[in-house]
Amino acid sequence: MKELIKRLTDVRSPSGREDNITEAIKKELEGNVDEIRTDNLGNLIAVKKGSSGKKLLLDAHMDEIGFVVSHIDDNGFLRVETVGGVSPYMMLGTRIVFDGGVAGVAGMEAESMKDTTENIKNLDLDVLFVDIGARNKEEAEALVSIGTFGTYEPGFVDAGNRLISKSMDDRIGCAILIQVARELERPEDDVYFVFSTQEEVGLVGASVAAFDIMPDLAIAVDVTAGPDTPKGSKRMKFKLGKGPTIKIKDRASISSSFFVDRMTKVAKDHSIPFQYEVLLYGGTNAMGYQLTGRGIRAGTVSIPTRYVHSPHEMVDLDDVLGAVKMLKALAEEGVG
Ligand code: CO
Ligand code: ZN
Repeated sequence: MKELIKRLTDVRSPSGREDNITEAIKKELEGNVDEIRTDNLGNLIAVKKGSSGKKLLLDAHMDEIGFVVSHIDDNGFLRVETVGGVSPYMMLGTRIVFDGGVAGVAGMEAESMKDTTENIKNLDLDVLFVDIGARNKEEAEALVSIGTFGTYEPGFVDAGNRLISKSMDDRIGCAILIQVARELERPEDDVYFVFSTQEEVGLVGASVAAFDIMPDLAIAVDVTAGPDTPKGSKRMKFKLGKGPTIKIKDRASISSSFFVDRMTKVAKDHSIPFQYEVLLYGGTNAMGYQLTGRGIRAGTVSIPTRYVHSPHEMVDLDDVLGAVKMLKALAEEGVG
């Protein structure tokens, strides 16, 4: 499982540019599913056939947050626009890798000490640039152009039970789906594994996959906060290593009570540790599913993750394995 997570998080594929990760996931799924296809928006949809005539949809978004070059100045420094929710505070000082493997450092303008203080306090993309080591515009233009995409630099860390990498959001969900597909022998319902595109820019892929499939239940598998750090939120107390969470609500959606009850029963029946999650912000593809067609019952299973949308997102392997068990058991028993 660790190797699978490393392979998936090492791939650079920001929203709208999911070709690399699509290829990687296809390879991992080979021989483990009955059908596999890609739709017009690039969603990778794999199916494992059941016998009940019902449909269970498991979703993980395969895109990641990133950057796109918006300007190259005369001295060869780049300006970038963000793709998805990137905090300038997370970005400053990090390495960003562009298509073709060109690496750069995110630096900040400051002509005076006063500027330094002021810019740090109100940090935004206007005062950040990316330095790819080019000596002038021509050198930079030989390496990247306006419209070249980038991501945080890969750098998987195996810290024992805890794993750290860029893009755990949501390659960890992709790894869970792949593992379920590999272990699942006799699904009750048809199980649709949807590796969706462009979640980070507005649940784009999931919305059309939902319309295409119209499942009886859709479950987004994604990351949530890991609030168990020094002075972490007083209002959310779920912890890394205490099990995957069954989401009750976040800012974008309220999980269907059908989903919450069904998932809870499966977890309890199989003695799988889990936590309930009320997230004070954020959202997942569950919202994209709920709002599609005549409406779809949907919910989210999450992996508690520290430092979400930073270059170093941390998860606990036990939560990941718990999620695999839970979703596999649900797929074996069916939506009901
Ligand atoms: Co995200
Ligand atoms: Zn996500």
